[in-house]
Amino acid sequence: MSSQGFDDWVRSDRFHNSFLLAPDADLDFALQNMADNGLPQIAVSAAQGKFLYLHARAIGAKRVLEVGTLGGYSAIWLARALPADGEVVTMEVDEKHATVAQASIDHAGLASKVKIVRGPAVDSLAALPSEPKFDLAFVDADKRSNLAYLLEAERLVRPGGVIIIDNVVRYGRVSNPADPEHDGIDSQGVRRMLEHLKTDKNVDATTIATVGEKGWDGFCYAIRL
Ligand SMILES: C[S@@+](CC[C@H](N)C(=O)[O-])C[C@H]1O[C@@H](n2cnc3c(N)ncnc32)[C@H](O)[C@@H]1O
Repeated sequence: MSSQGFDDWVRSDRFHNSFLLAPDADLDFALQNMADNGLPQIAVSAAQGKFLYLHARAIGAKRVLEVGTLGGYSAIWLARALPADGEVVTMEVDEKHATVAQASIDHAGLASKVKIVRGPAVDSLAALPSEPKFDLAFVDADKRSNLAYLLEAERLVRPGGVIIIDNVVRYGRVSNPADPEHDGIDSQGVRRMLEHLKTDKNVDATTIATVGEKGWDGFCYAIRL
């Protein structure tokens, strides 16, 4: 098999997107707004955003929890999947990120569906009541706290609901603790979560590795039992 790399993954994503994703002025605005304000380019890709949107629709989600707002890109995708009385509650520690996100969400006409909760997500999650439940949780913040986020998501998501935790592969680094040069605290946080999942009776989960314009990574997909 020939060896392939990042350029091939980007080309492939763009090729598929050219058939499956329509031009989208509001999402383009959100990306530009992030770039103009110097936010890091770490939002989900367009294909991943559409996957979140399709998945929220597939399960008939009405309430979505997101940990890690950044500039609101994935929140916009998720909010669009919801009925008129649906809600995305999205958590962000960085004031500037939250402000940029709010502007893009307003611009997309989704202010009534998206609530940004500012502050450290561990505290924001703990302050959320256990009812009403969420249908879907998307965890995409600091990976060191993944286990804490997972446990809170288990408390907050209904049985049959879904918890998706992003960035659990990290170019294979998560699976290679013997590589001290690349073994960051993010990977350790993901490993702590996986270790917990091994015996967790509240969820059943799998990891799906992905390549694309955001590199080689993957997400953990869990059903709340
Ligand atoms: C990968 S980005 C989120 C991307 C976003 N979900 C998207 O795809 O458009 C991670 C975000 O989590 C935020 N974050 C990091 N640590 C956090 C914490 N302890 N509590 C809440 N948010 C945090 C960062 O400031 C950053 O904006």
